[in-house]
Amino acid sequence: MLNPRLDELMTYPFERLSRLLDGVAPPDGVTPISLAVGEPHHAPPSFVATLLAAHADDWGRYPPNRGTPGFRAAVAGWLAARYGLPEGFIDGETHVLPCAGTREALFMFALVAVPQRAAAAAPSAPPPAVLVPNPLYHVYAGAAVMAGAEPVFLSARVENRFLPDFGDLPTDLLDRVALAYLCSPSNPEGAAATLDDLTDLIDLAMAHDFIVAVDECYSEIYDRDPPPGALQAAAAFGARRGDALEHVVVFNSLSKRSSAPGLRSGFVAGGAGAIAAFARLRNFASCQTPLPIVTVAEHLWRDEEHVRTARAGYRARFDVAEASLGGRYGFYRPDGGFFLWLDVGDGTAAARRLWAEAGVRVLPGACLCPDAPEYQPPGARHIRLALVHEPHTIGEALTRLRRVLN
Ligand SMILES: Cc1ncc(COP(=O)(O)O)c(C=O)c1O
Repeated sequence: MLNPRLDELMTYPFERLSRLLDGVAPPDGVTPISLAVGEPHHAPPSFVATLLAAHADDWGRYPPNRGTPGFRAAVAGWLAARYGLPEGFIDGETHVLPCAGTREALFMFALVAVPQRAAAAAPSAPPPAVLVPNPLYHVYAGAAVMAGAEPVFLSARVENRFLPDFGDLPTDLLDRVALAYLCSPSNPEGAAATLDDLTDLIDLAMAHDFIVAVDECYSEIYDRDPPPGALQAAAAFGARRGDALEHVVVFNSLSKRSSAPGLRSGFVAGGAGAIAAFARLRNFASCQTPLPIVTVAEHLWRDEEHVRTARAGYRARFDVAEASLGGRYGFYRPDGGFFLWLDVGDGTAAARRLWAEAGVRVLPGACLCPDAPEYQPPGARHIRLALVHEPHTIGEALTRLRRVLN
């Protein structure tokens, strides 16, 4: 048992998938294709290996908790250019920290925000709340529970552009929110919040004094327009609300942008107060990023060429998917990310049939929702397909999918 509440609430999605497919075998003679796991297949740029080798001496040094000035400047510069931020809005020295990929940082940040909110409340007050989308990246709920908060799930459905609706929450709930997680573009739906969505959420955070934690790890895999970001929304408040940034923290990484999940390298950026508190926590408990990796990361954030190439590669994959599935299963080209989110009526039954009859492994949407039946509906009709393989493999998998689900 890890934590009774967590055990009851969330099983790791791939554990659920393994249980679901336990005892089910693909047909004889069919080569299985897994579209279940969202692991990029593009090669990271060759300078990654060269730089790692050139900086091998740095493996012998303890890495500083805050990374290097070069890394922080590269991230601040990238954010300014990507989101058109005003000069100095993000200062690498006060607003940026390295992290070992977004997963650990998304988790650990709750350990800062939740106790702060609890300390500000009366001892007899109900526990702080953490708003999380549903379906969700399981870490958000895990972080909320392990930090001692109540996770409150906000359904993301087609009628709300697949985004959680923060608009109608009761005041007594909002007053105890410590943190609101948002994933944009989202996993699994690929829905990007608009600048208005983001400013509305930051407005709400300012009114009720909570922090908006935006997981932007899919921000660079987009089809047409670059999705707006939460720092851009904070900057849009201008001098009118100079404290907007204090209510925002964003998380990004090289795992998707640079097809380098193995590097375990990302960043957290946001208000100086939140970043200082997070740096303090990380002095006790962080996975510091080794210096050779910090150096590689600095170069990757300064290079856009490899990102453009990967983006074009994903576009080609979506072209294949659209040609194969367009007009079926609620197909749409997502704003961002590399997942298809298909409405197949009963995602769990479809996943079993696809594995048993076609050797195609997909993740049922229900596995991306909390375990209890009352939380399942937002994902129950769907399956998630990661379009990370070569286009011809994707084409083959989708042909098999159509044959089974017709
Ligand atoms: C929505 C979302 N957030 C965060 C992560 C973690 O990625 P990383 O820790 O590699 O940055 C993932 C990984 O798949 C993800 O899908």
